[in-house]
Amino acid sequence: MVFTEPIQTKKTTGFNDSVSIEPFPQAIEACDICILAIPDYAIELFLIQNFSLLKDSIMIDLTNGNRKNKRDLKRVLSSLDIKFDRWVKAFNDIGAIQELQHHSGGKSRFTTQVCGPDEESVEAVIRLAEALGYSTKKVPIDQYEKLQGAQDTIGWEWNHSIVLMVALFLLVSIYIIIQTSGRPNFEWYTILARHSNRMFAWTSIYGFALSLLPGTLIRLINAFGNTRRPRLLVWGCNIRKHVGLISLYFLFLHACMTVLLFGGEYFGYMLFSGEMAWEDEASMLTAVVSTSLFVITGIASLPSVGDAMNKAQFACVFGPVVWMALALGVMHVLFIGVTSWTATPRSPYAWARGMPPETLLSSVFPLFVMFLKAVQVGLGYIGWLKNKINASKRTSVHNKSSRPPEYNEVTPEKLENGVIQTA
Ligand code: HEM
Repeated sequence: MVFTEPIQTKKTTGFNDSVSIEPFPQAIEACDICILAIPDYAIELFLIQNFSLLKDSIMIDLTNGNRKNKRDLKRVLSSLDIKFDRWVKAFNDIGAIQELQHHSGGKSRFTTQVCGPDEESVEAVIRLAEALGYSTKKVPIDQYEKLQGAQDTIGWEWNHSIVLMVALFLLVSIYIIIQTSGRPNFEWYTILARHSNRMFAWTSIYGFALSLLPGTLIRLINAFGNTRRPRLLVWGCNIRKHVGLISLYFLFLHACMTVLLFGGEYFGYMLFSGEMAWEDEASMLTAVVSTSLFVITGIASLPSVGDAMNKAQFACVFGPVVWMALALGVMHVLFIGVTSWTATPRSPYAWARGMPPETLLSSVFPLFVMFLKAVQVGLGYIGWLKNKINASKRTSVHNKSSRPPEYNEVTPEKLENGVIQTA
């Protein structure tokens, strides 16, 4: 391999490890693969000056973005009318900051997508990338435009989750505004903080329930022996982590806002002579424990943390821990809400305009998701029990048939009926 300054530090196993430092024109003339790590606007001039030296090598295009007038290698080659198909798109989906923060001795590897019109060149670049410590994914040439714009988008998963959560937030807000504005002595300005706090809370608990729903439904489908995966569920599974993280953001808004607003003026209904009833105390306890567990799941979903977790740790955090967080969150709402739902005569605050209280509606959907989870766990347990019984039956049949002949009971009836053959 030939390098010009600066000398690369990554190990290049599989390739010639001896590095010769050559002046620039000789270096590119001798190279098999040229990594074009130059700005897009410099490609044209570079090709005009150096293409004749490079025409037998492979060129890797690192440029990014589909902005108007973007000059990637493919477009520059065709604008200069150069027939050359040994170009390969690779490494453009890995950012410089990512690279700088990456510990080369660490366990994780970056994955780069590799795409180009010439199969042989693509394979050569894949071998180079793997020797440099990257994982690779070969992408068909018809996906080129998508790959070119890899750093231009925050990703469809984030886009879809943001749209979903904003839509949810708007629906919840509309309900709360209509219902709450029917309360006695309602002041519109209190929408800004007092009631937006409740919008954040409701959105976050529905978001968490939504993020746990697809996995539960897929397991339920599996429990019935069905291997079909409806597209909606696959979509839900793809965005559940993002939905969960946005819900965590709404939860932070709710927790911060509550702490700022808490006091007799707004939360007098929870304070009697300055003290809370047991339900409200229980509600605060479940709230903070739930928040702490949601924070743990949020931390575990960070790539650097998740990568270091083993299967059992992962299953624990995204199993019991996250479900416990949701259950405690629901209990927090039930502790504050139930008394107001059932009070007689009906509370004009909880049932303003005759509409069901928010605490009631905000707990219904998470309760439903938890019910589905309980059914799925129950079915799983029944399946496990059935397997165990069948297995023990099989073992007992097997044990019987494999008994030595002297243990087989020889009864006079068996002898008479010829069941036991004597020689
Ligand atoms: C530090 C943690 C938390 C604190 C201090 C807290 C506090 C409160 C308070 C004081 C209320 C009553 C709001 C009102 O009447 O205006 C409330 C309501 C609520 N909280 Fe929390 N909470 C916390 C965490 C959570 C968590 C983890 C969840 C669930 C994910 C949650 C979901 C809700 C919901 C759905 C409501 C009902 C909103 C409504 O009335 O429309 N909260 N919370």
